[in-house]
Amino acid sequence: MSIYKIEANIRPDKAVAVREALHAVDVTMVTVIECRGSGRVPIPGHSFRAGSHNDGLVHRLRLDIIVSEPFLEKTVEAIRTAACTGEVGDGKIFIIPVQEVVRIRNNDRGVPALQ
Ligand SMILES: Nc1ncnc2c1ncn2[C@@H]1O[C@H](COP(=O)(O)OP(=O)(O)OP(=O)(O)O)[C@@H](O)[C@H]1O
Ligand SMILES: [Mg+2]
Repeated sequence: MSIYKIEANIRPDKAVAVREALHAVDVTMVTVIECRGSGRVPIPGHSFRAGSHNDGLVHRLRLDIIVSEPFLEKTVEAIRTAACTGEVGDGKIFIIPVQEVVRIRNNDRGVPALQ
């Protein structure tokens, strides 16, 4: 069965709503990375100009979630709906195939390592 990595870049103030939405679809395994980024359109007050001290990057959270194929669409939809305000800068979700998963404790491989 196929396994996917969901990389979701969200607004930090959407973390609680997104976690609730993930729990509602039985997704508890997640890695959260604090990061900074820039999208297509500069956010007012955060535009990058060479020679400026402002690097144009804004605080974001990146969620890494590895799921088996039956969980993929409902997980993406949970994140998308919970993280959406309808304004520019809501973030983006990337979906990437995963070759293998290994649970370190017992050497579970593949889907069993996600259960
Ligand atoms: N193509 C990309 N590559 C890497 N990171 C990205 C990419 N697009 C968005 N991001 C990350 O997502 C964050 C939010 O992006 P953002 O929502 O502004 O995307 P956008 O394409 O500009 O869409 P919108 O028009 O809705 O603002 C960025 O700060 C950046 O961290
Ligand atoms: Mg943008």
